[in-house]
Amino acid sequence: MKTFKLLLLGFGNVGQALARLLLEKRSELEQRYSIRFLVTAVATRTHGRALNPDGLDLEKALAIMESGHSLDELSPSAAPLDSLELIRASGADVMFENTPVNYNDGQPAISYIETALKNNMQAITANKGTVVHGYSYLQALAAEHGVKFFFESTVMDGVPIFSSFRQLPVMGLTSIWGILNATTNLVLSRLEAGDSFDEAVRYSQEIGIAETDPSGDIDGWDAAVKVAALITVLMDHPFTPDMVERTGIRSITPEMIAKAKAEGKRYKLVAHAWKEGEKIKARVSPELVSSNSILYNINGTTTIVQFESDVLGKLSFIEEDLGPRTTAYGLLADFVNAVRE
Ligand SMILES: NC(=O)c1ccc[n+]([C@@H]2O[C@H](COP(=O)([O-])OP(=O)(O)OC[C@H]3O[C@@H](n4cnc5c(N)ncnc54)[C@H](OP(=O)(O)O)[C@@H]3O)[C@@H](O)[C@H]2O)c1
Repeated sequence: MKTFKLLLLGFGNVGQALARLLLEKRSELEQRYSIRFLVTAVATRTHGRALNPDGLDLEKALAIMESGHSLDELSPSAAPLDSLELIRASGADVMFENTPVNYNDGQPAISYIETALKNNMQAITANKGTVVHGYSYLQALAAEHGVKFFFESTVMDGVPIFSSFRQLPVMGLTSIWGILNATTNLVLSRLEAGDSFDEAVRYSQEIGIAETDPSGDIDGWDAAVKVAALITVLMDHPFTPDMVERTGIRSITPEMIAKAKAEGKRYKLVAHAWKEGEKIKARVSPELVSSNSILYNINGTTTIVQFESDVLGKLSFIEEDLGPRTTAYGLLADFVNAVRE
């Protein structure tokens, strides 16, 4: 039995869902995988931070967040306010990085992961910015330090996309296609059911699937950054979100939704990446789909991705009813896989 010290950097929707899942699976982790864990640090930006090398009470941390108090209450002495200092002081074996995404350059999350890797910690993140802006560097750094940089939850939450592809050597991907953003898919479904745009967005935030700033979803950035992450990692071709031709769903009016409905069609925000000679192109845009399209019945918070390759033809993953718990599962699976590999 080995005890792993954990650092939870970011304790919002995803960080707290991960804490609940760790507690729920604690005995199974011990019994089936001989994995014990001890949380040595939990940090937020404005809700305090706690550090104790002997271990923090995770249930108490969740209760503090629920009551709106500060995590500072949990810390025997003041934890460093500088996150890089906190990472070094945590003495953790594994860092879970779940701070807000930065579509432009992936910072400061990339420097958090860099610091963790340089201190020989496994680094696990749900933060897409780190993959599109730091993948090659962080991957090489992890290898140099004999640890893993895993990021399963960055695209379609707990769906095992990146871990499946690690088991599929010498496969040449020719295209990636699907509905990668649950918020816009839910908004479009709720518009069809009669909600106003604002009501639909608010509902997505209430159930914890919309980003802190929903414009990232609505304007297609989230889908763009996800398709860029898939291209970067699975097609081995560095690709940033600004290289994706991008149109969001702001221009879709209730009248357009009603007209489509009357014609037996639906609007979907479709992400697509394909090869053109040696080049890779990518686009995110609203498309009108008919009932004979596989996308027509992918509604609400359900998402889909389809990969076309030189050997397996078309391979699809569909995820129903995702949320912070399914994201947390991707992080937990990465943890188990990282320490077992
Ligand atoms: N929500 C989902 O379903 C989902 C799905 C897949 C991936 N993700 C990704 O997961 C990450 C977290 O998402 P979320 O929904 O949990 O966001 P969130 O609820 O906004 O939580 C972000 C957390 O990070 C903290 N934070 C911000 N800056 C920090 C810093 N410099 N150092 C330490 N902590 C910091 C925040 O503290 P304060 O609240 O005090 O500012 C908060 O605790 C994002 O990158 C997101 O793209 C989310």
